[in-house]
Amino acid sequence: MVRMRVIFLGPPGSGKGTQAKRLMSLLGIPQISTGDLLRNAAREGSRLGLEAKGYMDTGALVPDGLVIALLEERITQPDCGQGFILDGFPRTRVQAEALAKALHLARMDIDAVINFEIDTGMLVERLVGRRVCPRGHGEWHVRFNPPSKPGYCDTCGEGLIQREDDQEERIRKRFSAYRADTEPLIEFYSAQKCLYTVNALNEMDAVTEQIRSILA
Ligand code: AP5
Repeated sequence: MVRMRVIFLGPPGSGKGTQAKRLMSLLGIPQISTGDLLRNAAREGSRLGLEAKGYMDTGALVPDGLVIALLEERITQPDCGQGFILDGFPRTRVQAEALAKALHLARMDIDAVINFEIDTGMLVERLVGRRVCPRGHGEWHVRFNPPSKPGYCDTCGEGLIQREDDQEERIRKRFSAYRADTEPLIEFYSAQKCLYTVNALNEMDAVTEQIRSILA
């Protein structure tokens, strides 16, 4: 097992979650998706979760303070001792600086930032066709990654649903938030000489291979 701390950066639907799930078993480190953490908190009905849901359902970013607190708590858990894959964090300059500060205090560093490069115009179909298990067992795509029985979770058999924010109008809002707040982080990490770019338009296996060779 190698110690590795990696950030996956890219627009909604570029494949960060798909690749993080594949890579976490190969690398033996957890995927930390702030989107999943926030959706779980909302499902549990906590105050933080319900507040976050109000933003997420419209396609807006959740306020920095809320997400940073959640992330800082998560990366100090024992399973992160050998590292982690951050999927969907940081998403703003404030978050990137908070992460750098938290890692510096813990005498840790980021080993690589993987930038999922893709034209957002190609992504609407990926997001509109995504289906998720309401019990959190995973996600599929009606065309690119269909479950064995169309419409049903391969793990628990529950009917699959569409995420609230995977409606076309909200997808456009998420792309705008990405361009305004997250895209500038490409320059931020490039200046730190830890940015690597993959072509996220390729098929899933090809993207996995690209990331594997970068991390090797
Ligand atoms: P989050 O859950 O992080 O969503 P996102 O960044 O919008 O990313 P997605 O999960 O939509 O896409 P992905 O890149 O992971 O692609 P995936 O692999 O699923 O965040 C949701 C919301 O939470 C935000 O809008 C915000 O409100 C809030 N939030 C989260 N983090 C925050 C933060 N740090 N700060 C503030 N707010 C925050 O793939 C998509 C589909 O495409 C799948 O169906 C998949 O099967 C398919 N697919 C994947 N790769 C390929 C491929 N190579 N070819 C064909 N199909 C593919």
